Amino acid sequence: MVCLGNICRSPMAEAVASAMVEQAGLAGVVVESFGTAGYHAGERADPQADAALRRRGWPAGTHRARQIRPADLVALDLVLCADRANLAAVQRLAGTGAGRPTIELLRSYDPDVIPGDDEIPDPWGGTDADFDRALDLIEQACRGLVGQLASSPR
Ligand code: 4NP
Repeated sequence: MVCLGNICRSPMAEAVASAMVEQAGLAGVVVESFGTAGYHAGERADPQADAALRRRGWPAGTHRARQIRPADLVALDLVLCADRANLAAVQRLAGTGAGRPTIELLRSYDPDVIPGDDEIPDPWGGTDADFDRALDLIEQACRGLVGQLASSPR
């Protein structure tokens, strides 16, 4: 899961997808998150992101922000990005070489996604309602993602 700062959207997506993967019994699926920027590397998740997770009963409080590097991409199968700017940044980082992971928008797994409205808006610096809205979109996409992983051959 990738966003810009790795303190708001992608840590929420990591927490939600990890819990759903575990609930679905998908042993062997590991979910991590990164930022394309390093502004917040080493920091905990934004307190509003942790609070939004806790309001819905998702685990929170253990995250440390990381910036994604080319070496990380070698170890990843699927990179899901919060918005198009970060999708483009990951695509640039991955180049065109063999072993490149699949790089997509997280909301491409949202069954209700509408063309032209396929991003998770950045809630950083916004209200608790902005974080709840981002989490709504993350939950919806992660349900689609985990449903697809659960029904695909392993
Ligand atoms: P995120 O939110 O990409 O969802 O973690 C942001 C966090 C920090 C900044 C921008 C977005 N920033 O510019 O520091």
